[in-house]
Amino acid sequence: MLSVLSWGRALFLLSVVSPSVESKINRKSIIQQYNLKLNQSHPYSPVQVGNGNFAFGVDITGLQTFLPHNTLSSWGWHNSSLPSTPNQTSPADYTGVEWWTHGRLVNYEQPNPAEKEISQWMIANPHRINLGRVGLWFGGIKGGNISERQLSARCQELDLWEGAVTSSFSIDGAEVHITTIASPKTDTVAVKISSTLVRTAGLGVFFDFPYASGKNKFDTPFVGLFNATSNHTTSIEYRERAASITHTLDATTYVADIAWEGYARISRLHDDEHKYILATSQNSETLSFTITYAPQLGHKSSTVETIKDEAAVWWSDYWTNGAFISLPTATNSSANELQRRIVLSQYLLAVNGAGKDPTQESGLVNNGWYGKFHMEMVFWHLTHWMFWGKWDLYNRSIGVYERFLPSSFGRARKQGYEGARIGKMSDPSGRSAPGEINSLLIWQQPHPMYFAEMEYRAFPTEKTLKKWDHILTGVADFMASYAWWNSTKHQYDLGPPMYPVSENTNPNQTVNPTFELAYWRFGLDVAKKWQTRQNKSAPVRWTHVRDNLAPFPTEDGAYVIYEGIPNMWSTPKYTEDHPGLLGIYGWLPPDPRLNMTTFNNTIAKIHQTWNFPFSYGWDFPLLAITEARRGDAERAVQQLLDVNNAFDEVGMPVGGTRVPTPYFPSAAGLLLAVAMMAGGWDGFVGPVWPAGWEVESEGFVRGM
Ligand SMILES: *[C@@H]1O[C@H](CO)[C@@H](O)[C@H](O)[C@H]1NC(C)=O
Ligand SMILES: *[C@@H]1O[C@H](CO)[C@@H](O)[C@H](O)[C@H]1NC(C)=O
Ligand SMILES: *[C@@H]1O[C@H](CO)[C@@H](O)[C@H](O)[C@H]1NC(C)=O
Ligand SMILES: *[C@@H]1O[C@H](CO)[C@@H](O)[C@H](O)[C@H]1NC(C)=O
Ligand SMILES: *[C@@H]1O[C@H](CO)[C@@H](O)[C@H](O)[C@H]1NC(C)=O
Ligand SMILES: *[C@@H]1O[C@H](CO)[C@@H](O)[C@H](O)[C@H]1NC(C)=O
Ligand SMILES: *[C@@H]1O[C@H](CO)[C@@H](O)[C@H](O)[C@H]1NC(C)=O
Ligand SMILES: *[C@@H]1O[C@H](CO)[C@@H](O)[C@H](O)[C@H]1NC(C)=O
Ligand SMILES: *[C@@H]1O[C@H](CO)[C@@H](O)[C@H](O)[C@H]1NC(C)=O
Ligand SMILES: *[C@@H]1O[C@H](CO)[C@@H](O)[C@H](O)[C@H]1NC(C)=O
Ligand SMILES: *[C@@H]1O[C@H](CO)[C@@H](O)[C@H](O)[C@H]1NC(C)=O
Ligand SMILES: *[C@@H]1O[C@H](CO)[C@@H](O)[C@H](O)[C@H]1NC(C)=O
Repeated sequence: MLSVLSWGRALFLLSVVSPSVESKINRKSIIQQYNLKLNQSHPYSPVQVGNGNFAFGVDITGLQTFLPHNTLSSWGWHNSSLPSTPNQTSPADYTGVEWWTHGRLVNYEQPNPAEKEISQWMIANPHRINLGRVGLWFGGIKGGNISERQLSARCQELDLWEGAVTSSFSIDGAEVHITTIASPKTDTVAVKISSTLVRTAGLGVFFDFPYASGKNKFDTPFVGLFNATSNHTTSIEYRERAASITHTLDATTYVADIAWEGYARISRLHDDEHKYILATSQNSETLSFTITYAPQLGHKSSTVETIKDEAAVWWSDYWTNGAFISLPTATNSSANELQRRIVLSQYLLAVNGAGKDPTQESGLVNNGWYGKFHMEMVFWHLTHWMFWGKWDLYNRSIGVYERFLPSSFGRARKQGYEGARIGKMSDPSGRSAPGEINSLLIWQQPHPMYFAEMEYRAFPTEKTLKKWDHILTGVADFMASYAWWNSTKHQYDLGPPMYPVSENTNPNQTVNPTFELAYWRFGLDVAKKWQTRQNKSAPVRWTHVRDNLAPFPTEDGAYVIYEGIPNMWSTPKYTEDHPGLLGIYGWLPPDPRLNMTTFNNTIAKIHQTWNFPFSYGWDFPLLAITEARRGDAERAVQQLLDVNNAFDEVGMPVGGTRVPTPYFPSAAGLLLAVAMMAGGWDGFVGPVWPAGWEVESEGFVRGM
């Protein structure tokens, strides 16, 4: 076993790109303080194992016995049948809508009232599917109908350092021990069940497969329909000590490959259901098996022990590499809670937020927005990986800009703009779902510039320049052609129509939003530098737009969401939602237009007027980053621990009044804020922590 382990470690180290940090902090002892310990199923947030592309949520049994927590992946998607309404039977029948935009009609991907059915189909499809459920089958114990309350001495621990869940309980006077691990390499769950009941009472496991309805925008906490049994099929093929179940839901087909150790039997429960039972058929007190979900059969299965070792290596390397921080947890309860959030967010983001595509807001826990991901949220989901020096995890999905470039060019061309316009609510194909906000939001456009610049600071090579060159050029061309030359004011305006970050204004009146003006300038500036670094000259238009964007709009000596917004500070609907305008100082490096007196007035007004119970997600980390750049450590920490910014018992960021739990941008934003407080930015003078806090940190990448 030792040799397998060290061999695995050697292989892993060869593949690590970023240099590892010489660690002075005893990371393991800090991490393990926050191991989850539960004695009952958490009702809506599962304990999870996973690998970034695949996650498996469990109840108190370490499986999905009592609660059908989900098994979600990057690759499992389904289309409902197309509408049968005449002329609305294919995606090609969807034409969007045209809105007047600076004197011309522009086509936007919005629901068309004359194409209602196909518009809705385009929104809800494809949707992410729950791949299946695996639970304990109680066999002959008490007639097989057992509830959680009947289990005594329940006890569960997630060992964060090794990525393993161990669960135990007693029933009928016998102990049951279960170990649950996800493979870091394949979408496999490895399970070992030990109990005399395996031998004496037929204690085994069931596998069940749900249909996908695509009816719910938010499918939470459970995804899929287990009772629409006639709408889909499963079939089983047996091999030696293995069986594969092929699940077909309309055009979607995938395989659940189950392999066990020793002698066991798997059989279908009833002919008309999709439920299969695995139980041992020998004189054994353990049942060990793996279940691998994959689009096709063809992986090589490993034993439970091998997967356990591989996971232990992966997770301990994950914790050992990259940055780390140690807060004074023993002396200050706020520091302890912040450390808990940091450690559990690190675990959960590696499980839920490190796949081949950008993360959905609820990761791989449950589905929001039909399981789709949002291109404007990529900033929040991905940036922290760079700041923590976890470049390999950042790298897994950053290729999305390259992959989506053809559809981004197509979108801009169709709308009469130059370059590449990045979409919004997306599926892996790069299609952006119809939506008024979806089609009119613009703050996702400069994200590639932010990522490229951070990458170049860490890896200032030809390769980095080449990797981003055509992407930045495409996006900068769009940004420059989108900016509207206002010939009376001699400036470039952004919008209308458009939605700013806060999504709460009239798009036909929204012009020159503060944050977007700053981000446009930042993006075009990076795009120009990119050309200079390659000894090429940037298009004149980029520079002209960069240098002639409208000034930041103000009212009463403070910045406002957009130019001409009526009575912003006394209008409740404007003093809630994301306070995106603060992003001009903190999130972004200072803009030449920035006036700190005005900015300080703005943040003061936010503190006076904002409806914080209605805030959610990255709002609090954004405030923390802003306060940190202003040097106010107390307030920065307060924001991260704000009562409206809760993290539950298993570490999931609570959605709050607006969205379901979990809402991972809160976790990712927390890690970004902490990284900036510890590692700083250009011109930074020292870490931003409350007086008296002894903080040790290492390995953080400096921001801009
Ligand atoms: C479960 O844990 C909670 C909190 O740690 C404790 O208060 C409770 O008594 C425990 N219940 C059982 C049945 O062990
Ligand atoms: C869903 O339908 C779209 C449009 O027809 C197609 O491109 C896509 O591959 C389908 N996806 C799945 C998972 O069937
Ligand atoms: C469908 O399209 C045809 C031809 O474009 C048109 O004549 C017909 O009225 C349309 N039907 C409906 C229900 O819109
Ligand atoms: C904005 O203008 C479009 C037409 O260009 C119209 O359909 C829409 O209702 C307007 N929205 C608001 C909130 O006024
Ligand atoms: C299982 O037990 C519960 C009560 O614990 C009862 O409500 C339910 O009807 C039982 N189901 C079967 C199939 O016996
Ligand atoms: C199937 O289960 C869902 C809840 O998951 C329920 O709303 C629905 O009524 C059930 N349908 C049938 C046919 O039993
Ligand atoms: C299952 O199929 C039946 C018959 O085609 C259909 O009426 C029903 O709506 C389908 N159920 C779901 C959940 O799609
Ligand atoms: C912990 O630190 C915070 C921030 O400085 C401070 O407000 C709080 O009073 C401290 N709590 C304790 C128990 O020392
Ligand atoms: C990212 O992955 C690509 C291959 O997909 C590799 O060439 C590159 O070196 C990786 N970069 C980093 C920063 O890890
Ligand atoms: C210039 O901006 C003003 C408002 O700031 C607007 O009323 C005017 O229509 C704009 N002119 C052009 C040519 O876009
Ligand atoms: C910043 O704004 C304040 C208040 O509007 C003004 O008095 C001051 O002159 C401005 N500072 C600069 C450098 O423009
Ligand atoms: C803005 O606020 C920060 C934090 O309180 C302070 O350090 C800075 O001097 C202020 N700047 C101006 C121009 O008022």
